[in-house]
Amino acid sequence: QFADDMQEFTKFPTKTGRRSLSRSISQSSTDSYSSAASYTDSSDDEVSPREKQQTNSKGSSNFCVKNIKQAEFGRREIEIAEQDMSALISLRKRAQGEKPLAGAKIVGCTHITAQTAVLIETLCALGAQCRWSACNIYSTQNEVAAALAEAGVAVFAWKGESEDDFWWCIDRCVNVDGWQANMILDDGGDLTHWVYKKYPNVFKKIRGIVEESVTGVHRLYQLSKAGKLCVPAMNVNDSVTKQKFDNLYCCRESILDGLKRTTDVMFGGKQVVVCGYGEVGKGCCAALKALGAIVYVTEIDPICALQACMDGFRVVKLSEVIRQVDVVITCTGRDEKVVGEPWSRPRRSSHSQVGSLGGGGTSQPCVPRVFGGLLEPG
Ligand SMILES: NC(=O)c1ccc[n+]([C@@H]2O[C@H](COP(=O)([O-])OP(=O)(O)OC[C@H]3O[C@@H](n4cnc5c(N)ncnc54)[C@H](O)[C@@H]3O)[C@@H](O)[C@H]2O)c1
Repeated sequence: QFADDMQEFTKFPTKTGRRSLSRSISQSSTDSYSSAASYTDSSDDEVSPREKQQTNSKGSSNFCVKNIKQAEFGRREIEIAEQDMSALISLRKRAQGEKPLAGAKIVGCTHITAQTAVLIETLCALGAQCRWSACNIYSTQNEVAAALAEAGVAVFAWKGESEDDFWWCIDRCVNVDGWQANMILDDGGDLTHWVYKKYPNVFKKIRGIVEESVTGVHRLYQLSKAGKLCVPAMNVNDSVTKQKFDNLYCCRESILDGLKRTTDVMFGGKQVVVCGYGEVGKGCCAALKALGAIVYVTEIDPICALQACMDGFRVVKLSEVIRQVDVVITCTGRDEKVVGEPWSRPRRSSHSQVGSLGGGGTSQPCVPRVFGGLLEPG
């Protein structure tokens, strides 16, 4: 039934039916691999969390996670994250007596990491009730999900969900007897559109949507243009602290983490072309340059192109370098793909890689298409 629902759901409003999940896969966070893997033994993997009967220490089973026994380790990770999230912690201290979010029933769908846990627990400390699922089938830190469940949060997520599990978890957050969400916090738009399509009466009563991703905002704009967005929505990317900090500095760190974990190769001396020199592109270029990579940049905006020059990068056309580079990174935020003849004969075809930190909503499908050449509108 969920597979059918999912198929029907993805017809709207995506251009390609599987975009929402593809996005989840494409942005498969690299941040959960080591910790989650180390705490997931093979016997754990044999049984789907959906089949397991688990309760937390208070006897609640209002959650579905990989293994509730991992909660203690997850708690330690959350505590480490709290040390770097002083704004939220001071907000808790200042406002938890007043409970300014009392009455807020928030349904969320984000990466479930230690950092998100700090956010969720802050919302709860301020009086909100939260139910949470993962926006990405791979990025959940199982032990963090366990810690949230142990703390009483209704969390439905584990690393390695199937498509069916993904929609099942979202539905478990929304479809609850005696509880109706009045706010949505989403990353990618899947939850929002699930509520919109499956529970229109709930959707009408939503008081506000917070959307974290460009992809999700794009989907909201589509709804809005069709005159169907009856709910106020906030684009997190409009926040200067998101754009100028997360996009730049976080990507500066995660680009190397992602490349290293997926390829396990050295980048000193490698030739890399970064498409787009916006915030994300600037972070990627800085990190790759620091590692000793030879970095080329493509840009369509003359100011950003000039900035790349002033920062010491060679600004090129993709067609000029595509046959000599080892790696292509797309950070344009557009729905584009690398196509065409030159890329079919890259200099070192067996080694060439493509990565997308922000190639638009359908960025992930560019990967199989890459053996073809130039960046063109997709
Ligand atoms: N993976 C992550 O963790 C992560 C984090 C933050 C943002 N993002 C995503 O990364 C994308 C880019 O974000 P940003 O803040 O850098 O946006 P931005 O608008 O600052 O930068 C995009 C740049 O790409 C350039 N560009 C557009 N089309 C191009 C083309 N065909 N060829 C070359 N250059 C082109 C634009 O001129 C612009 O300078 C967005 O989709 C964003 O959602 C990803």
